[in-house]
Amino acid sequence: MTSNSSTQTMQEALRQLESETLTALAALSDVLSLEELRVSVLGRKGTLTQILRSLKEVPAEERSAVGSMANGIQDGLNQAIDQKKQSLQASKWQAQITTEALDVTMPGRVRTPGVLHPLTLVTEEICDIFRLMGFHVIDDTLCPEVETDYYNFEALNFPADHPARDMQDTFYTHVGPEVLLRSQTSNAQIRHMEAHQPPVQVVVSGRVYRNEEVSSRKNVLFHQLEGLWVDENVSMADLKGVLHRFVALFFGEERPTRFRSSYFPFTEPSAEMDVQCILCTGAGCRTCGHHGWLEILGAGMVDPNVLQGVKIDPEKYVGFAFGVGIERMAMLKYGIDNIRAFYTNDQRFLTQFRGLS
Ligand code: DAH
Repeated sequence: MTSNSSTQTMQEALRQLESETLTALAALSDVLSLEELRVSVLGRKGTLTQILRSLKEVPAEERSAVGSMANGIQDGLNQAIDQKKQSLQASKWQAQITTEALDVTMPGRVRTPGVLHPLTLVTEEICDIFRLMGFHVIDDTLCPEVETDYYNFEALNFPADHPARDMQDTFYTHVGPEVLLRSQTSNAQIRHMEAHQPPVQVVVSGRVYRNEEVSSRKNVLFHQLEGLWVDENVSMADLKGVLHRFVALFFGEERPTRFRSSYFPFTEPSAEMDVQCILCTGAGCRTCGHHGWLEILGAGMVDPNVLQGVKIDPEKYVGFAFGVGIERMAMLKYGIDNIRAFYTNDQRFLTQFRGLS
């Protein structure tokens, strides 16, 4: 090859390479292929590098012209590749911005935090008051809702066929004549005293069931809190003192209450406590059955027969017990005139108790 022809061939090869590379570059659409192209042309074993290596074949006097042409092409291609890289990166980000765009004007989802049920709130408040007076709050799993006749009645001094059983319309089950849904939380007294010798000073709350006609004041399912204090020197005066203090702390000192004598087979003497109706403040309304008063609890001195039945010596120990109706307490505190409001899960009713815990 003459010096002239080798120079020409080289210049042509350079031009061709330049134009082929630019065409390929224009057609590229991703950064990875761009890098492959750069390596194949400008890399250590790339086409342009190969051509530059054969520069020594060009006659010395023409070498610098061809050399500077080759350098110019190399710089130009490097620049074009960098530009392409930037534009590919920019369009990638653009695509990302479009596909991942957030509509910041879209209204958010309102998540209202849950609230404790008013019966839970009231039960907790009552338990706190009794804690203040030295009572232990015991676990309600100790006294089952599906109970035997023995714990619901017999051990509480309701002998079989005793007319006092009719005071509570009981749901019996198909499991057997002895198995029922407890009609009172007083079963907890027996279960607790069977396992603990005095001193005993406890409260326990739970669900009870009665086969009653549902009305604004009565439901087939409701809640009670049972209390029991057995020790050597517990008296009727203690019972009155504890219950008056409890009612005053729950409703406020100014709320009128009254204490009436009553009858329960498992207490002697027995009493009931009424609170003046908040809805009619004594004048009489549907909620209080036009009496002006609502009964909130039954109580009394534990009958010696009951203590004997659980192997506690009635000569040595005395005690008092009480059973509070939770729904009644809540209705009287918050002026709720329909007991069914507690069970229908109406958000408008339930959310009114937000922030009361
Ligand atoms: N268990 C009774 C009822 O449901 C309420 C009661 C009365 C509970 C007197 C007691 C008590 O502990 O001593 O009607």
